Amino acid sequence: MRPALRAVRVDITTLAVDAIVNAANASLLGGGGVDGAIHRAAGPQLLAECRALGGCPTGQARITAGYRLPARYVIHTVGPVWRGGGHGEAALLADCYRNSLALADAAGCASVAFPSISTGVYGYPLALAAPVAVASVAGSSGRAVREVLFCCFSAADLQCYEALLAGAE
Ligand code: APR
Repeated sequence: MRPALRAVRVDITTLAVDAIVNAANASLLGGGGVDGAIHRAAGPQLLAECRALGGCPTGQARITAGYRLPARYVIHTVGPVWRGGGHGEAALLADCYRNSLALADAAGCASVAFPSISTGVYGYPLALAAPVAVASVAGSSGRAVREVLFCCFSAADLQCYEALLAGAE
């Protein structure tokens, strides 16, 4: 069943959804951007659980508890670094969304929130990343996930996703 898709402009760490997705790096040991915000809000136990995971390859995802976050789970995924578009970036980005949704579904999550993976430090142009994100989620067919939120951190990002979702209806 295709989940309902919505775009919201909000700090992802405040969302009381079943799972929020973290734009992590391969070490899973925290960083800046949304990764830093999630670790700060979740508290030190999140890092302790991440340490035990032993990292995560680009395009893959790992699930942990949410600890002090309102979200029950954090799904950590590692997006591709933008290198111009000729190095399989779009396929790896699609893998991030699909693998994250698969973990959310397996954990019985009904609601999942994604940040714009790879579009900050990793330099993936939002105008190119957002269509990959929406198409990957729209094409998913899980049993538990009923709602996916694209969590935007700027008005421009929100506008981009809203335009895409209007066209996808
Ligand atoms: N809530 C929602 N979105 C956020 C938040 C937040 N609190 N903070 C940042 N963002 C947005 C950014 O504005 C951007 O649109 O998340 C998107 C992803 O940006 P980054 O966090 O920079 O992630 P990414 O581009 O995937 O780079 C990952 O950055 O923080 C490090 O450890 C991380 O090395 C990894 C790299």
